[in-house]
Amino acid sequence: MSTQWKIVLCIVALSMVVTTAAAGPLTPIQQLGKIMYQDLDFSYNSTQSCLSCHHHRSGFADPANSLDPEASVVSVGADGVSLGGRNAPSSAYAGFSPTLHWDNAHGGYMGGMFWDGRATGKILGDPLAEQAQGPPLNPVEMKMPDMAAVVQAVRDATYANLFRQVFGTDALEDVPSAYDNIGRAIAAYERSGEVQKFSSPFDRGQLTARQQSGAVLFEAHCAQCHSMADTPPLFTNYSYVNIGLPTNELLTGNPDDLGLGGFLEADFTSNAPLFADADYAAQYGKFKVPTLRNVAMSAPYGHNGVFPTLTMMVAFHNTRDTGGWPEPEVANNLNDDVGDMGLTDTQVDDLVAFLLTLSDDLRMGP
Ligand code: HEC
Ligand code: HEC
Repeated sequence: MSTQWKIVLCIVALSMVVTTAAAGPLTPIQQLGKIMYQDLDFSYNSTQSCLSCHHHRSGFADPANSLDPEASVVSVGADGVSLGGRNAPSSAYAGFSPTLHWDNAHGGYMGGMFWDGRATGKILGDPLAEQAQGPPLNPVEMKMPDMAAVVQAVRDATYANLFRQVFGTDALEDVPSAYDNIGRAIAAYERSGEVQKFSSPFDRGQLTARQQSGAVLFEAHCAQCHSMADTPPLFTNYSYVNIGLPTNELLTGNPDDLGLGGFLEADFTSNAPLFADADYAAQYGKFKVPTLRNVAMSAPYGHNGVFPTLTMMVAFHNTRDTGGWPEPEVANNLNDDVGDMGLTDTQVDDLVAFLLTLSDDLRMGP
């Protein structure tokens, strides 16, 4: 079967799935998660929620960055001054990532949450729920003193009874188990049809001829990493690759970011290693392949936000080795499928036209 036909059939098949997945109001656990996702009292000075850095108007990435991607590339913490070291990815469609694991078939690591996979999912069995437990306690993000303070904010909130309805009458008594359930409820919301709409022109099968040629190029050159194999496609296989992004000069105070290798090194030298991978250096410089859903809304691009536009990001994949780009931040383990792809400028533009079809439909509101 020709590639075009495979794509068309795939689109038809998934539009049927989608109508059922996105329909319907939030369930009680999703509703609870939504309230907590937006609760400013999850930050020490009541100024920041998950929504502050993962807003629907930016494809669930950081709106402060997407409004000014040339100058603002990492998030500012609740204290108004602290800067994180990485570009905020979208919190939508992230929950399909499996628990971080070594995948024999792929011959590499796959899954987990964050650019470096460090919310592995091994503790709660769900990387998305585990991830949600990080930001409230992170000193450069929401900066709460401890878990007990976050659970107390829920006890004091108007929605405390909804929490008890969902998780049981005693659910706010024990701090660690309440904190686990906070993570689970937020994850349930992030996986809801309100966040993961699958409602883009691509999902609706509404591609122009130019976008269609972009789709064909995408399947040939991009889908081995930004996979289209799922139904509906998620545009990532959750593997880890070093595509050799240059250092972002706006972040020069930071040490070289070793990505997954840095996490595995810290894990290897910790008291209770989860992976105990002595060959962590083989993962230096590798970052999780991001989904490309809503990518048009979530500038800047890459783990360090080095590229302000989609065109630059795609052009870099095409000509890293031939186009006179600055040196990679981390030169170890550089991937060769990208860097010299031989695409023409028109083909790069067609690919960008295709990426623009992956934005969810905001006509009926966020
Ligand atoms: C100050 C801004 C900020 C706040 C507040 C914040 N995040 Fe994030 N978020 C980030 C950044 C930056 C990253 C990437 C960090 C990394 O990879 O090391 C991230 C990563 C993530 C990811 C990983 C996505 C992926 O594909 O790996 C998810 C999901 C997420 N955040 C959800 C949340 C939730 C839920 C909350 C609230 C409990 C929250 N964030 C609060 C900035 C923020
Ligand atoms: C060998 C695997 C691989 C291939 C092939 C690949 N990519 Fe990527 N892509 C990645 C990785 C890994 C990242 C994130 C790198 C980082 O942040 O260090 C990325 C990032 C991106 C981003 C930025 C997304 C964001 O949210 O920041 C875009 C856009 C993108 N790729 C588009 C493409 C297109 C279009 C093609 C085909 C021409 C392609 N990619 C081929 C691995 C790949």
